[in-house]
Amino acid sequence: MTQLKWWQTAVFYQIYPRSFADGNGDGIGDFMGMIDRLDYLADLGVDALWLSPHFPSPQFDVGYDISDYVDVAPEYGTLDDFKRFLDGAHERGMRVILDLVMNHTSHLHQWFIESRSSRDNSKRDWYVWRDGKDGGPPNNWYSPFGGSAWEYDEQTDQYYYHFFLKEQPDLNWRNPEVKNAMWDAARFWLDLGVDGYRLDAIGTIFENPAMPDQRSSMTQEDLRSTFNRGFPDRPDKKLIELWKFIYKEQVEQDGVHQLMQELRTVIDEYPDRVLVGENDDISYYGNGMNELHLAFNFPLMRTNRLTPDWIHANQKERLSALPPDAWPCNTLNNHDSTRVFTRFQDGQHDDALARISAALMLTLRGTPFLYNGEEIGMSDYYLTDITLFRDPPAVWFYNGLVADGMTPEKALELAAIYNRDRCRTPMQWSNTANAGFSPQGVQTWLPVNPNYGQGINVDDQQYNPESLLSFYKGLLRLRRQTPALKDGDYTPLHETADDYFAFLRRSQDGAQTCLVVLNLSDKEHSLKFDLPAGEARCLFSNHTLEDETVSLEALNIAPFEIFIGEIIP
Ligand code: GLC
Repeated sequence: MTQLKWWQTAVFYQIYPRSFADGNGDGIGDFMGMIDRLDYLADLGVDALWLSPHFPSPQFDVGYDISDYVDVAPEYGTLDDFKRFLDGAHERGMRVILDLVMNHTSHLHQWFIESRSSRDNSKRDWYVWRDGKDGGPPNNWYSPFGGSAWEYDEQTDQYYYHFFLKEQPDLNWRNPEVKNAMWDAARFWLDLGVDGYRLDAIGTIFENPAMPDQRSSMTQEDLRSTFNRGFPDRPDKKLIELWKFIYKEQVEQDGVHQLMQELRTVIDEYPDRVLVGENDDISYYGNGMNELHLAFNFPLMRTNRLTPDWIHANQKERLSALPPDAWPCNTLNNHDSTRVFTRFQDGQHDDALARISAALMLTLRGTPFLYNGEEIGMSDYYLTDITLFRDPPAVWFYNGLVADGMTPEKALELAAIYNRDRCRTPMQWSNTANAGFSPQGVQTWLPVNPNYGQGINVDDQQYNPESLLSFYKGLLRLRRQTPALKDGDYTPLHETADDYFAFLRRSQDGAQTCLVVLNLSDKEHSLKFDLPAGEARCLFSNHTLEDETVSLEALNIAPFEIFIGEIIP
């Protein structure tokens, strides 16, 4: 039996620092606020926290444009505040991983300021500079955040490359000095005791060095149509293929796996740390031991409806593709995607469907990542005023639609849906002004979703045993106590069933087997399972009584029931 690592049995919870908790009442989340909420997180029952970037940043891409890798954004607090947060999490048994943004810095990072100052500056080659061609940029590459991937710099009469915003110049990873500087930054936080990293946008680190033109016949309008709800959750396969073709020369280039192996050796200087990649490609696991510990199973969430078919197919493909010793990693939402509550709602059974999604995350084999607010059913919030947009690609999208001749009203409606601000609004703590995120009268950095007044807030749900929050807590507690759910293998059952998704998890030591049935329909079922044992004891259900012994010959499953039972041998 292999002793599993903490990150294999942990449930991760993503904190979006700007929107989690505002400790000093300025409308922006901060470490003081996060420290205050550590008890909430421990009580919720998550084991590890992933912090989206908390570094100094001019906030062109809400912190993913970093101007100093080894400090804390002043509006979030100080390095001492960070240490108190880290210690506080550790004291409560929770690990903390940070975001490592390697592809690019902010244009206001000292490295780039120096790099752009003159052609012979010692940091010139830390970024990707090229001469223009025929009075224009070096080639026809696009940025998925809008327009050309090249920005002209008058002072030195050259262009620099930026896969994302022009305020996010790409680092030149073919320069070993860049690597050393970034590894030093990574060690800085590891030395302070952080438990690992979520690696941002690793697929875009290298470009084809020959820089050939891309060969799609794309226009700006086509480009806009590929800008589909941020990065990881494009549901349309054709769009994904189109996207891959346009950016073929700019993503997943040679060298990236070698680089990940080097980063792995850096991380391995420290005991028991973890790397999780923002990339669904299985190749990032390397041989299972030498690259990343985890790579997100994004394909699972690239659908607007979780059906049994979809989940079965995803699990089959994903689990069989993993190298030996590699561990799966599942998620259904994050700060770039539609919120899980909104994504899978049908307008009639929204709460039931949210519970099914949570149960799926917490029972599938692998490490689950939850996103702050999903535990209280926070939903996407569509902004109705362009001046409130904080996500630049959405502004680009809006301006483009208007330039194409669409009415501003219609353009705003569409842009609000595409806008990643939709899932980044402040955490809803209570049914008071500003949802208790900031004091009354303070203007929060993004508007608060007014549905906090309808029970979508922590206080209203905390002590209500029927609430979504209590449901999450119950499931998290169960998962902690149930070896089969943490380390068990996975065997799909009834694979042709349309209405429900069923599977077994058998613990590594063979001592426990759990049957999980998630009824994704409003229909009742009596299910017969051909298993050597004939009965199960209910461990968790939103219908069957806990501890009730049920027959596996005729298991009654109510509409939208979530049934987790331990097989009685
Ligand atoms: C990743 C982040 C996203 C950011 C982009 C550029 O995809 O998740 O929020 O905009 O990288 O850093």
